[in-house]
Amino acid sequence: MTRPPDALRGATITGTGMYVPERVLTNQDFERMVDTSNQWILERTGIRERRIAAPDQASSDLAVIAARRALESAGLTPDDVDQIVIVTTTPDRYLPSCACTVQAKLGARRAAAYDVFAACTGFLYGLSIARGVIGTGQADTVLLIGVETLSRIVDYSDRNTCVLFGDGAGAAVIQPCAPGDGILAISIQSDGVLGDVLEIPAGGSRLPASAETVAARGHYIKMRGRELFKIAVRAMEDSLRNALELSELPVDEIDVLIPHQANRRIIDAVRQRLGTPPDKVVVNIERYGNTSSASIPISLDEVVREGRVKPGDHVGFVAFGGGATWGASIARWTQPARLRPAPAVQAAATRGAGA
Ligand code: ACO
Repeated sequence: MTRPPDALRGATITGTGMYVPERVLTNQDFERMVDTSNQWILERTGIRERRIAAPDQASSDLAVIAARRALESAGLTPDDVDQIVIVTTTPDRYLPSCACTVQAKLGARRAAAYDVFAACTGFLYGLSIARGVIGTGQADTVLLIGVETLSRIVDYSDRNTCVLFGDGAGAAVIQPCAPGDGILAISIQSDGVLGDVLEIPAGGSRLPASAETVAARGHYIKMRGRELFKIAVRAMEDSLRNALELSELPVDEIDVLIPHQANRRIIDAVRQRLGTPPDKVVVNIERYGNTSSASIPISLDEVVREGRVKPGDHVGFVAFGGGATWGASIARWTQPARLRPAPAVQAAATRGAGA
């Protein structure tokens, strides 16, 4: 569990952006590829279609578009960015990091850039890092990007997994705000004992790539979905309740709940356990499938641009993913960046006070 830091200043999301590739893969397409049906996929998962990256698009290409949109919505340029944090399971390469590749493409010369691996919970882990470095004055502007090209690690002959995943990127700009505003609390947890319930067995230091690992299809996602389902529902509920407790807010104070889009039935089960009305819960799994660490920032950008989130609203985030990892956060939405005092002024004032 992560306790709220004794922060000198708060941290808040001041810009959002997203990008999904143009190519759409529908349930009907899968009927021609594996033994499945539109009805099974829709009933069991809520997914109708997902986006697939073009052959020449890697994760960094998706991430850069989402990042530019987020910076633009925050009224910033790449030069303003202090840290680029990328949460992903599908970096372009393992060396260098996806974040360094994105830094070069953006021309964000001042930034420190690094990747974080926490599967579908990545956005919550990234938010926790961003809040920490901003709260302690190490950075004024963090660009947090969740990006996946899961189509590159999905086995399109395995009906248990291939229908679930899609590609996309979502980005958020995080900057200082008054303590007690913005990100109020974050709860993140892991249980490595559950590691092999969702894994890519080969390609790392345990089983380096070889002709045998390729023949054994060891570079693709393997998942025991039924086991994960029950764990995910319980963990997501617990973690959201935990974040609410840390925020000292009752559950009905959540105005907009953005869950990781893994499965419509998981989202519904968590919502019912919390007693949250359906109109407060963001669901777009129908259009994108499970985009892992990109799903929350994509959903956030959509609701922000639709005007569903207003200053003062309490926004809840909750996720569960491989590792196993899970987490939740509660944020009090602040004014859009352009309507707030320049963060540099706030940062300098607070740093002076705390030094
Ligand atoms: N089409 C038709 N039948 C299928 C398909 C398919 N695409 N996939 C599986 N089936 C079959 C199974 O083989 C099984 O058949 P059997 O009973 O003859 O063995 C039957 O459908 C039921 O299978 P279940 O696994 O019990 O199906 P379930 O209702 O649990 O749905 C699913 C499967 C969608 C994977 C669900 O378990 C799930 O969403 N689990 C959680 C996934 C998750 O949260 N992952 C973590 C986040 S993702 C990340 O971190 C990258």
